[in-house]
Amino acid sequence: MKSPLSEIRQKDNLLNSITLDQLQVFEAAARHCSFTRAAEELFVTQPTVSMQVKHLAQAIGLPLFEQVGKRIYLTEAGKEVLHSCREIFQCLDRLETTIVDLKGMKQGKLRLAAVTTTKYFIPKLLKPFCKLYPGVKVALEFTNHEALLTRLNENLDDLYILSCPPNREDIEAKPFLDNPLVAIAPANHPFAKQHKLCLKNFAEEPLIVREEGSGTRKLVRQFFEQRGISPRINLELGSNEAIQQAVIDGLGLSVLSMHTLNCAEVRNQLAILDVDGFPIHRQWHVIFPKKKQLSITASTFLEYLLTETQQFSTDNDNPMQTVKTLWVQS
Ligand code: PGA
Repeated sequence: MKSPLSEIRQKDNLLNSITLDQLQVFEAAARHCSFTRAAEELFVTQPTVSMQVKHLAQAIGLPLFEQVGKRIYLTEAGKEVLHSCREIFQCLDRLETTIVDLKGMKQGKLRLAAVTTTKYFIPKLLKPFCKLYPGVKVALEFTNHEALLTRLNENLDDLYILSCPPNREDIEAKPFLDNPLVAIAPANHPFAKQHKLCLKNFAEEPLIVREEGSGTRKLVRQFFEQRGISPRINLELGSNEAIQQAVIDGLGLSVLSMHTLNCAEVRNQLAILDVDGFPIHRQWHVIFPKKKQLSITASTFLEYLLTETQQFSTDNDNPMQTVKTLWVQS
């Protein structure tokens, strides 16, 4: 199948003047919807980004962005060029990886995407890996659950880490670590000292949840739905840290992954409640499309992740212990 760029190329020889630099700058600007952020990412100036995008648009003969108010949006031509751009860079990445694999060296690029909640432990697991394979360049993107699935569909990364893998035939999902979700309150809340608190009583208190698209939010919703209980949601916040602070400040109770409580200062101001049905038992999974040919670097990391986390291995009776052991070891 012809790519949109090759079709344009046949009609217009101006494309001979397109350079990979222009495509790289354009891709970053399109991804961020911002010339300024593209410039920051690529360590160039904002006028350089504007100039490269301008030259690319001139070569193609169509505008690639349009400005509405303060924001820039891709035009139809821009979307086509972005699509082709990604194919070109993925193809070059594959070529680089193949060459490295042919040389049998543990180096190259490892692209990981992980949900925001994993930021409390993924860097710790990555550190020894990077020491072991100093030739491997790691690009790690943290996004929420929905945004991660979009990246998966666009085939942007080698491996994806989350706790609710999509129920799809074409996806390989390997569990590797416990992810208990706990009910939390301010340390001085009357519930803090109670044992075997009834879920209905917990649900009568104001509840703070993560933003739409978050995996944590999805798990909390499923948990209450399965029990036919509607919690009183009074606040939505876009990060685990913001929720912890809001709970400490007395704005409501919440349910978060135990991994988010790794900082003693925060833990001292919060209480983990003994509520019926908690902790919610979940596991972190590493996933990738079954038909994807993993590079040597990606399969080495996959093997490392599965082996390394065995020492914190799933204790069905006490998943909280897994997380605590991980805190102690790190
Ligand atoms: P989140 O995902 O960081 O988007 O809430 C967490 C999860 O998958 O459990």
